[in-house]
Amino acid sequence: MELTLGDFARSAQARLDPAIWDFFEGGAGEERTLAANAEAFDRMWLRPRMLRGVSRPETAAKVLGRTWDAPVAIAPLAYQTLAHPMGELATVRGTAAAAKVPVVISTFAGRDVEELAAGSDGVPLWLQIYCLRDRPMIENLIERAELAGFEALVLTVDAPRLGRRLRDLRNGFRLPPGIAPANLSGDGFAVPAAHASAEFAPDLDWSVVDWLRSVSSLPILVKGVLTDTDAVCAAEAGADGIVVSNHGGRQLDGVPATLDVLPEIAAAVAGRVPILLDGGVRRGRDVLAALALGADAVFLGRPVLHGLAVGGAEGVTGVLNILLSELTDAMTLAGVGTIADIGPELVRPAPAGA
Ligand code: FNR
Repeated sequence: MELTLGDFARSAQARLDPAIWDFFEGGAGEERTLAANAEAFDRMWLRPRMLRGVSRPETAAKVLGRTWDAPVAIAPLAYQTLAHPMGELATVRGTAAAAKVPVVISTFAGRDVEELAAGSDGVPLWLQIYCLRDRPMIENLIERAELAGFEALVLTVDAPRLGRRLRDLRNGFRLPPGIAPANLSGDGFAVPAAHASAEFAPDLDWSVVDWLRSVSSLPILVKGVLTDTDAVCAAEAGADGIVVSNHGGRQLDGVPATLDVLPEIAAAVAGRVPILLDGGVRRGRDVLAALALGADAVFLGRPVLHGLAVGGAEGVTGVLNILLSELTDAMTLAGVGTIADIGPELVRPAPAGA
């Protein structure tokens, strides 16, 4: 029985082919950043308040002008058909059954955007953009998604190429036959790192946000910001939101945990645009810590793949239900009645060695 997201991870590992497990779990290089993301949450302790009269906390959050059931959205994760044949469709359905929160669909999704929109059941869909060399192909994908009712674009800026993922190199990882991006044309996708070297545009600058704005009227979030300077660049380039992310430790190894850079970014952004964060969120209390340090919401990454591998849509529902009930429990026990009540006084760093 799965009682935690860690339980889901263990169950997923037992079911998945080891090379696919490594593709999902692995980070770049020595995986220092991957480990740091989780450690940063472990280092943050909560400062609960007592006798605050909180019987049923309200987890609803307003982000980008819409009310979400909770401040948690689903991160873009490529090739979800590796985890379950229904892939992204199961993720969307499974999310809808747990909470009305956005699901970000990767450029490398394994299911058509139109099919996902038709099955979305009230869940907002966002499209993640890798601005590949073939701009007309990306423009076409954006047009299709916008027409199908997608509500925002998430531009990933931390991938001029793929990070050096040693597990995949050692495994000689290739996508199994039948696994391919459903919304892109062309071929050469089978070895993700080789495809990225050939097709990712390494020479982008901040004017890419202008380009995106010229081809779509949807809100644009910039994903992959790790410094206060770039947060300001993103806001000045006209981004409607920022995602503090190190790509789950899969790009440049040796960058800090996202939670550790969040306060400097929140200070620089100063409320101009919403801030989302991902990397290592595994417990309800992690959501509280991220919000206390300046995030408006978080993205959940690998645990969604674990849910998919364990039980398709039902597994995703299971993962989200655990995280959201942990969030409700933590808010109750910490005396926090609403998401708006979460502030920096709720957390403190753990003493060294604790
Ligand atoms: C990702 N991530 C990612 N990001 C993105 O912008 N586009 C993508 O297609 C993918 N694909 C992808 C595949 C897999 C297997 C993983 C594990 C990650 C990164 C993802 O959106 C997110 O930033 C991290 O996964 C968040 O960290 P956690 O929650 O996995 O620790």
